[in-house]
Amino acid sequence: MSAEEIKARCHSGSLRIILENKLFMDHQKISASFTLLFLLFTATPVRSDLNTDKQALLAFAAAIPHGRKLNWSSDTPVCSLWVGVRCAPDQNHVIGLRLPGVGLLGPIPANTLGKLDALQVLSLRSNGLASNIPPDVPSIPSLHSLFLQHNNLSGDIPNLLTPNLTFFDLSYNSFVGEIPLEIQNLTHLTALYLQNNSLSGTIPDIDLPKLRHLNLSFNNLTGYIPTSLQKFPKESFLGNSFLCGSPLDQCPGASPAPSPAPTTQSGHKKSFWKKLSLKAIIAIAVGGLALIVLVVTVLLLCILRKKDREDNGASKGKSIAGSAGEKPKEEYSSGVQESEKNKLFFFEGCSYHFDLEDLLRASAEVLGKGSYGTTYKAVLEDGTTVVVKRLKEVVVGKRDFEQQMEMIGSIKPHPNVAPLRSYYYSKDEKLLVYDYIPSSSLSGVLHGNRSPGKPPLDWDSRVKISLAVARGIAHIHAEGGGRLAHGNVKSSNVLLSQEHDASVTDFGLAPIMSTAASPSRVVVGYRAPETIETKKFTQKSDIYSFGVLLLELLTGKAPIQSPGRDDVVDLPKWVQSVVREEWTAEVFDVELMRSQNIIEEELVQVLQIAMACTARVPDQRPNIEEVIRLLEEFRQPDSENRPSSEKSKDSVAPTP
Ligand SMILES: *[C@@H]1O[C@H](CO)[C@@H](O)[C@H](O)[C@H]1NC(C)=O
Ligand SMILES: *[C@@H]1O[C@H](CO)[C@@H](O)[C@H](O)[C@H]1NC(C)=O
Ligand SMILES: *[C@@H]1O[C@H](CO)[C@@H](O)[C@H](O)[C@H]1NC(C)=O
Ligand SMILES: *[C@@H]1O[C@H](CO)[C@@H](O)[C@H](O)[C@H]1NC(C)=O
Ligand SMILES: *[C@@H]1O[C@H](CO)[C@@H](O)[C@H](O)[C@H]1NC(C)=O
Ligand SMILES: *[C@@H]1O[C@H](CO)[C@@H](O)[C@H](O)[C@H]1NC(C)=O
Ligand SMILES: *[C@@H]1O[C@H](CO)[C@@H](O)[C@H](O)[C@H]1NC(C)=O
Repeated sequence: MSAEEIKARCHSGSLRIILENKLFMDHQKISASFTLLFLLFTATPVRSDLNTDKQALLAFAAAIPHGRKLNWSSDTPVCSLWVGVRCAPDQNHVIGLRLPGVGLLGPIPANTLGKLDALQVLSLRSNGLASNIPPDVPSIPSLHSLFLQHNNLSGDIPNLLTPNLTFFDLSYNSFVGEIPLEIQNLTHLTALYLQNNSLSGTIPDIDLPKLRHLNLSFNNLTGYIPTSLQKFPKESFLGNSFLCGSPLDQCPGASPAPSPAPTTQSGHKKSFWKKLSLKAIIAIAVGGLALIVLVVTVLLLCILRKKDREDNGASKGKSIAGSAGEKPKEEYSSGVQESEKNKLFFFEGCSYHFDLEDLLRASAEVLGKGSYGTTYKAVLEDGTTVVVKRLKEVVVGKRDFEQQMEMIGSIKPHPNVAPLRSYYYSKDEKLLVYDYIPSSSLSGVLHGNRSPGKPPLDWDSRVKISLAVARGIAHIHAEGGGRLAHGNVKSSNVLLSQEHDASVTDFGLAPIMSTAASPSRVVVGYRAPETIETKKFTQKSDIYSFGVLLLELLTGKAPIQSPGRDDVVDLPKWVQSVVREEWTAEVFDVELMRSQNIIEEELVQVLQIAMACTARVPDQRPNIEEVIRLLEEFRQPDSENRPSSEKSKDSVAPTP
């Protein structure tokens, strides 16, 4: 079966996928779904024909240094063959221009893009743009989304802004000056991202009913946060050392009463820092320093004391939880009954020779605390190292537990599945033993702190990992006679070797665990909607979780709760909303887009697979074998010999 056929088959089932068709760069395919959307916008007056737009784009390309990806040439059709260009269905004007990471350098030339007077979406993010934004660009009347993040643009934020602007992203640039008051007039604005610039002054009292996303972090803003913006979280204002008031700390000298009434507030804001004398500022600074010294001292003392205790523990002989500090032995041996010792059950093909006694005497180190319990690295006296998982909240009796273990243990070896080696069951304690592989979790690699020398996970590795995970899941699905599901697919359950060989772990445990008991926020983000009600994990719900994992690899975002917020980032919903609003390219991980040889179509194709997997209706999700085929085939048509496939396209394409 060809990739096309599979795609077609997958697409026919799901409404979401049909919606997704508009993601295809291929214009033929998008026109049908796009027409309806366009009908909603027919008010757009026809002011230019395509030739005007084409000249404007060519002038733009001629005036700005750029990389090879920008393949515009005056003798190829603008709407179908120019990278990044999107035309209205009538092919008469350009309505979208997306050139993320194409190596644009220097100032945005004036009098070029500003002439695209039907332009709705402009994305020039992740390039090397510098200097001021020419005023004719943000004032294009039809423009509703402007993405200029991750450049080195400077100067003031333009104050000539089209009132139609809904999405405005200037983050990670070098803008200076104040936030212009004119923002208040953007009544359709839903997102304003200005983080990581050098903006100064006070925040204007912008009260925009539709504003849902705001980030002003890491600037040099001062004074009160206006009441109208206090509904946003702390994270919207971080790193502005002279900014104060809810949700940040109270302003120095402010009464504990709520901040001043909005009407008088702007007056207050302006005079606040002026009123504060130099002496007062010094006093505050000295006070702050003293506090920091105190905190550091206390911390140091704590660390020293803890170290002391650990050393003591070690000298008294290797204890099971020695390096975990606090409660030696207790950690996983407390519930083990004397009479039941040595009832460690090993599966066939396992080469370990130790008994429970040995295991309990091993020195242990906490590897992680997961939703099912804590995981330890245990080093036995003979040097054997294993991973011990201590399950909490097992809800089934011994018989059911053993049956499930049998099922998990009977799975044949597979390179992408971490095998269960042994288990222990007593009334109070349930332990599982796995091989120890020096590895990191995918979650850690994607979201953890990266040391400066280490590059981010590149696209090829991400594709390789997703395939490996899919194969691991497929093996579990096939081996369990169709009855076994992984049940807990998430990035922290994907182990990565140095060479980025991936294996899945923690599978098959869902049916024996209490799912009702406060599932952690991390798990919720991966959970298929139907499992929240039924509490049953199926192969189809695995597909959903795998889809979320794919989205995580594509976007670099974790489907978890952000600190201090109650809502979970629902990745599928978020991606869908972005895609629906025509910002597709905006979902992808900046780290990926930075790389020079990234092929955006590939990202889009994987995005489609992910969206198919996260269909709300279980039956509309593909099965794992289909997912693997799609992932295996998506690059083949034009990866190796892209130039020749282009050539053939040119010669075959009928020119009407
Ligand atoms: C330009 O690049 C895009 C995307 O890589 C491709 O679809 C298009 O065919 C190319 N156009 C030309 C004229 O080579
Ligand atoms: C602004 O957007 C609305 C739809 O959101 C559209 O009807 C209107 O024509 C746009 N204004 C301009 C000047 O394009
Ligand atoms: C950004 O632009 C400023 C001048 O506006 C320049 O000093 C700085 O070196 C540039 N930074 C980068 C990373 O290009
Ligand atoms: C906002 O728009 C109104 C009317 O269009 C105009 O009078 C006012 O000056 C604008 N405010 C700013 C700050 O641009
Ligand atoms: C944003 O600014 C903060 C504080 O200066 C810095 O830690 C962070 O790395 C910046 N982010 C980027 C992507 O430059
Ligand atoms: C931030 O603003 C203060 C005055 O408000 C100024 O002294 C300081 O240099 C500014 N810092 C930066 C990094 O621009
Ligand atoms: C704003 O950006 C900063 C980093 O540049 C980030 O730490 C913070 O979480 C963001 N805030 C929100 C609300 O997304």
